[in-house]
Amino acid sequence: MVDVFDIVIFGGGGDLSQRKLLPALYRAYYLNELPQHTRIITTCRNAEKANIYRHTVVESLQSYLNKDEFSEPRWQGFKQLIFPIALDITQRDYQWEQLHDLLGKHLSRRRIYYLAVPPALFGICCKHLHESLSITDKSRLVVEKPLGYNAVSAEAINSEIASYFPESCIYRIDHYLGKETVQNLLALRFSNFIFEQLWDAKSIDHVQISISETVGLEGRAGFYDEVGALRDMLQNHLLQLLCLIAMEPPNKMNSKTVQAEKIKVLEALRVIKPEEVNLHCVRGQYCAGVCGNEKVPAYLQELGQNANDKPSDTETFVALRVYIDNWRWSQVPFYLRTGKRLKSQCAEIVIQFKAVSHQLFDEKAGAMQANKLVIRLQPEETMELILMAKNMDRRDIQLQPASLNLNFTEVHHQCQSDAYKRLILDAVADKTSLFIHRREVQAAWLWIDPIIAGWQKSAVPITLYPAGSWGPIDADELLARDHRYWFNGGEV
Ligand code: BG6
Repeated sequence: MVDVFDIVIFGGGGDLSQRKLLPALYRAYYLNELPQHTRIITTCRNAEKANIYRHTVVESLQSYLNKDEFSEPRWQGFKQLIFPIALDITQRDYQWEQLHDLLGKHLSRRRIYYLAVPPALFGICCKHLHESLSITDKSRLVVEKPLGYNAVSAEAINSEIASYFPESCIYRIDHYLGKETVQNLLALRFSNFIFEQLWDAKSIDHVQISISETVGLEGRAGFYDEVGALRDMLQNHLLQLLCLIAMEPPNKMNSKTVQAEKIKVLEALRVIKPEEVNLHCVRGQYCAGVCGNEKVPAYLQELGQNANDKPSDTETFVALRVYIDNWRWSQVPFYLRTGKRLKSQCAEIVIQFKAVSHQLFDEKAGAMQANKLVIRLQPEETMELILMAKNMDRRDIQLQPASLNLNFTEVHHQCQSDAYKRLILDAVADKTSLFIHRREVQAAWLWIDPIIAGWQKSAVPITLYPAGSWGPIDADELLARDHRYWFNGGEV
């Protein structure tokens, strides 16, 4: 177990805190992973909100935890750890001294400052922490994506926070790195002889990385319309997954070496020039449709736009064909795709191997399919290797796909791992390997910026897709032009 610590969550009333951070801390509490006397200090701008804060938390826990996780006795214990305070981050007045005094009662503890607020407030928040003498040797800063809006703004934010915290004390979260199966990618790649031998352009035809969501805006319209799917998901989660799949083996397993290898991948991504954007990228926006059994409105309607407004052209779907220009991956396409209001919720990576070089069996044996390794992160955590095998019910040779399937969720008999719990506790324990280096953020933005520039210049309008579908038809055409098709979650 980690040593007793204080965590200060700025933006305690916000969406991230209520949906993810407090449920994660509650889980850590009831799984006995929080030491006694840990304090969760949450700040709200508004004093009234701070007064009813615990009430808000209990409602969120009931909504966002699994049914069997919440119980009244657990809540009674957990609520003793919560210390809500009213604090306006931008106002340097007595409220900051109050926070300082509260923290000062336990000066020697590890302190986590978690900035669950818009990045525009990161700098001022760090400045006020510094001025109120609240930054100690044992203080760590945790910041959330999106870090900036483009390379320039990300660099400005990173420089600002670097004036108050050294890089070694800054933990940039990408919660996908906290997912168990994502960590398993490194184990899969670097501790299995059979895969490492086949992990390159000689054996792999292409790679697909898809994160499909069924949810829409979930009350985050203001935020989402400013960013869109490319900045919200692809710049961070999908590129991180791509890095873990594509990176070279580090010489040792630690944060520095892993981050260094990921940076090399990001720097080797072939630039998509603004004028080529429509050749390699598809962007879409959902219109009304049916998701599950429910009729859902169009993005513009969810946004609250009316007929006289200029329709937003923020993308809720993006698909890209990407190349990594290095020795290992020369000419192997990586297809990345993510979107909201798609047909099903799924996050998966498909490694499509090449077909066998000679067709030994005749046509009667049936069509050959190339091997695939499917690594699913959500909704279940599984790895599936699809092979060709003989149909055992037939005397003659009939080939059919068969799968070796490893279901981690079943193996562990427990609820899906909680990425935020893992990452918060790692930050407390000073384990940095699942966090992102400033140079990774920068390299990712430098690659993303020309795509955005291309869209801004492009005369091609955004493509609409019905909610509940697999996205715009153009995304299928992107692969069809390469004689390939998407594997749609669970339909492999
Ligand atoms: C967040 C995005 O980073 O990831 C959200 O801001 C998205 O828009 C979420 O819904 C998806 O995370 P997960 O873990 O639910 O797949």
